[in-house]
Amino acid sequence: MGLQLLRVWLLLFLFGLVAIVGGGGVNVGDFNIWPMPKSVTNGHRKLYMALDFQLITEGTNYSDASGILKEAFTTMVDVVQMDYALDANFSALHPSVVLKGLQVLISSPNDQLQYGIDESYKLLVPSPYKPDFAHLEAQTVYGALHGLQTFSQLCHFNSATSRIEVLMVPWTIIDQPRFSYRGLLIDTSRHYQPLPMIKKVIDSMVYAKLNVLHWHIVDTQSFPLEIPSYPKLWDGAYSFSERYTFAEAAEIVSYAQRRGINVLAEIDVPGHALSWGRGYPSLWPSKNCQQPLDVSSEFTFKVIDGILSDFSKIFKFKFVHLGGDEVDTSCWMSTPHIMNWLRKHGMNESEAYQYFVLRAQKIALSHGYEIVNWEETFNNFGSKLSRKTVVHNWLGGGVAEKVVAAGLRCIVSNQDKWYLDHLDTTWQQFYMNEPLTNITNTEQQKLVIGGEVCMWGETVDGSDIEQTIWPRAAAAAERLWTTYNKLARDPKQVTRRLAHFRCLLNQRGIAAAPLAGPGRGAPQEPGSCYSQ
Ligand SMILES: *[C@@H]1O[C@H](CO)[C@@H](O)[C@H](O)[C@H]1NC(C)=O
Ligand SMILES: *[C@@H]1O[C@H](CO)[C@@H](O)[C@H](O)[C@H]1NC(C)=O
Ligand SMILES: *[C@@H]1O[C@H](CO)[C@@H](O)[C@H](O)[C@H]1NC(C)=O
Ligand SMILES: *[C@@H]1O[C@H](CO)[C@@H](O)[C@H](O)[C@H]1NC(C)=O
Repeated sequence: MGLQLLRVWLLLFLFGLVAIVGGGGVNVGDFNIWPMPKSVTNGHRKLYMALDFQLITEGTNYSDASGILKEAFTTMVDVVQMDYALDANFSALHPSVVLKGLQVLISSPNDQLQYGIDESYKLLVPSPYKPDFAHLEAQTVYGALHGLQTFSQLCHFNSATSRIEVLMVPWTIIDQPRFSYRGLLIDTSRHYQPLPMIKKVIDSMVYAKLNVLHWHIVDTQSFPLEIPSYPKLWDGAYSFSERYTFAEAAEIVSYAQRRGINVLAEIDVPGHALSWGRGYPSLWPSKNCQQPLDVSSEFTFKVIDGILSDFSKIFKFKFVHLGGDEVDTSCWMSTPHIMNWLRKHGMNESEAYQYFVLRAQKIALSHGYEIVNWEETFNNFGSKLSRKTVVHNWLGGGVAEKVVAAGLRCIVSNQDKWYLDHLDTTWQQFYMNEPLTNITNTEQQKLVIGGEVCMWGETVDGSDIEQTIWPRAAAAAERLWTTYNKLARDPKQVTRRLAHFRCLLNQRGIAAAPLAGPGRGAPQEPGSCYSQ
């Protein structure tokens, strides 16, 4: 009898050990949710996810006519179950340890995705009301989508039993984001990103609860997007196959929206616009001095109006980004017809830059947009900007502080910390970059609507974009999601949890790079994913 008991204990001990190792560093009393929720309590029991895990929505106010919830649920279950060999015999399990599904209650019938919607949720596993189900409540379907992501991170495949386990129940998770704008920039001008790659980036953003894809569509090098009003603009694409049709752009927006992600479209004017003139050379100051866009020509503003008119049909986010950075006016000053125009209008070069930006702002406003502009516009003529401007910081720290003191809104992307193309910037630096640095007034704090990490495209294409974005974007995602007092003061406190999230991304088919070393690095030595 004694020996029997010892054997049983030994077995349990070994099994526990296997569970800890096999579960990928899931230690008792410690969990791996990324980004960290606002409030979490958990226990130490284990449930098993039924093979036919069900969604039930009785009692909800949300009809899901668009199928957003159903699709997100099915995708989540697929991501959790993957291609694992789930052939365990469930009839051997006591019914009380099998989780049959998830009940979702959503208060708002509306699924219009817009800036500032309620993204909160509450997740209880198991449900106190229906113990063989988990319970998810949210104001909006988009809050519920975040809850699904969190739920997916509580589930683990156990290769010894061939079952999906929900460890450490009961869970009570109450969550909401700290900032309403949590962005990632992609740049499709320096390199074209194929449509499936953009969709994959969107999928991966969902895992980290980022909610804005800032699409820097066009720049000096190429103009890859079809603009129906001015069909020769995409003559500036690298090739016929490196283009997005208008319908494909609409498809990207819809794909993102259904996952709770807004698309912020950018046309950067008047600098960074050389490629526009390949189809319409009169947008250039001259054939051999090709940017900024010709400020003296009415045609320039007609084209901007045409683009923004077309944009307003598919880019339904409240904001459009009009760039306005790094404007080198020397082509204006060396082109006779522009110099004459300036003289006639009594403008010098900096006044012409201001005139251009403000006129483009008025066009955007006339199409119902609020505006995002890079910080140089604020630095040069901040008091002249429309009050509907959000200033996008990039040059360095300390800018948000000045912007909000002037009563304008700000997005933080200081390049020394949040530029993903700066490969030397470590995930720890991404994690510690605080958008509200030196802003103590609570009214001013509210004007910082969030932040964004920027994946400039000079050295990324489909071959390396994922590993340049991840895991560092995830570090910023936690900073933007998690309530201030729950953020780690020392990145060492989150290393293990971030490593786990990085491995989760790999398991889900996202090529996230190891934590060790600089951005986009390869593993440095043999070893477990969790120790790289
Ligand atoms: C599953 O387990 C039950 C109870 O242990 C057993 O009766 C049944 O035959 C098993 N089914 C299969 C397919 O192995
Ligand atoms: C549905 O809407 C009604 C009326 O606004 C509200 O009283 C009820 O609590 C809502 N149900 C849920 C599940 O939020
Ligand atoms: C342009 O004119 C403004 C207003 O007269 C002046 O403040 C500014 O210094 C001038 N800029 C340049 C580059 O000459
Ligand atoms: C915040 O203020 C401190 C003290 O004035 C200063 O040293 C620091 O550089 C400021 N940080 C930023 C990002 O401006």
